[in-house]
Amino acid sequence: MKILVLGSGGREHALVWKLRQSARVSKVYCAPGNGGIADEADCLPVELKSLDAMVALGQSLKPDLTVVGPELPLTLGVVDEFTRRGWPVFGPTKAAAQLEASKSFAKEFLQRHRIPTAAFAICDSMEEVRDALAHFHAPVVVKADGLAAGKGVVIAASKEEAASAAAEMLSGKMVGEAGARVVLEEFLKGDELSFLVLSDGERVVPLVAARDHKRVGDGDTGPNTGGMGAYSTADIVDEQMRDWLVNHIAKPVVAGMKAEGAEYKGVLYCGLMMTALGPMVLEFNCRFGDPETQPILMRLESDLVDALEASITGRVSEGDFKWSQDASVCVVMASGGYPGTFEVGKKISGLDEAGAVEGVKVFHAGTSKHDGDFFTGGGRVLGVSARAAELETAVSRAYEACGKIRFEGAHYRKDIAGRAVKK
Ligand code: AMP
Ligand code: GLY
Repeated sequence: MKILVLGSGGREHALVWKLRQSARVSKVYCAPGNGGIADEADCLPVELKSLDAMVALGQSLKPDLTVVGPELPLTLGVVDEFTRRGWPVFGPTKAAAQLEASKSFAKEFLQRHRIPTAAFAICDSMEEVRDALAHFHAPVVVKADGLAAGKGVVIAASKEEAASAAAEMLSGKMVGEAGARVVLEEFLKGDELSFLVLSDGERVVPLVAARDHKRVGDGDTGPNTGGMGAYSTADIVDEQMRDWLVNHIAKPVVAGMKAEGAEYKGVLYCGLMMTALGPMVLEFNCRFGDPETQPILMRLESDLVDALEASITGRVSEGDFKWSQDASVCVVMASGGYPGTFEVGKKISGLDEAGAVEGVKVFHAGTSKHDGDFFTGGGRVLGVSARAAELETAVSRAYEACGKIRFEGAHYRKDIAGRAVKK
């Protein structure tokens, strides 16, 4: 069968890499893809912000399955458009993708369905922000309502700082239209967990869990990013906790969406904080996480195509996934300046040496290829990933590989999975 993957990041490289391993797949296209993906799939240009362009691509390729990587095409309704034309496509509809596209929608949905989440207030003006802040204790989390690529969240140490962050968002200065409404949230303490499940609109099957590292600097310092690295192990959550998360979070979400007329099919990414009072939802994503997908798929031993198809046809079951007991990790190498401004077009060396380290796979996130050489082309450039029986080994393999890669301005966290290894 012919598969089309929409997107251009490390997550899409991992999807292409895994989908190609299926005996059922004869051809993989990726649009627009990147320099590294082009070594494993036919890359085609497309504007992911244009529904017409994506439909035209679907019309010309007639893929047997389309897998949508990023949130933007989902929130524009690419799944609705492809489904209407009878083209099999993996992911939620535009209505279901509201869970990610609007934080105020997600928070009110959580409240309606009594699913644990931080206390919050939704504000459309500074007057509302000031009134609401009276009910909060510092630190306060300030979030832009709309999509902001991981840059719409400020953890404010004081109420004054929270007010000025909200003002920047509401004025459009920080994240444009996405900040026209803000959500103030109680600050939660604990370990974060990325808990992804596959849903067919009714049933829910968990994937192995992962832990992302969102801050740019070691020790969780500096601004938030799209994610600087992630790992997954067999014991990141025990069976009892996994069942609790399925029964008290994932299933109620899927049942609630169905009851509200927006059936949720696809991957539901539950971003959780494991607090002293139990797990609480920080956010939903309506897609695979990036970089979580890299370590998650490195542990997948069964056919990904079968599982994704089961989501579309309404037949997901525990048997869809066979997981390795191994541990896996992904370390993101980023451009100098990321998550702020950065330059692209820096030549990358050492990729072959890095890829030769045992158990390592280098996923490309933002690269381009010219005359056989790779160049940087985005903020997150590479996801240097490794798998091994022990987390410690996987981590040391990933860092050995990072040490062989060079490009001007390159930076990466040195402590991905560090706390888990120490334990
Ligand atoms: P979000 O996009 O809502 O997941 O927020 C991005 C990141 O901000 C999360 O992964 C957390 O690291 C942090 N964050 C979000 N909400 C909270 C909260 N209520 N308390 C503490 N940290 C938070
Ligand atoms: N790594 C966080 C995300 O995919 O949104």
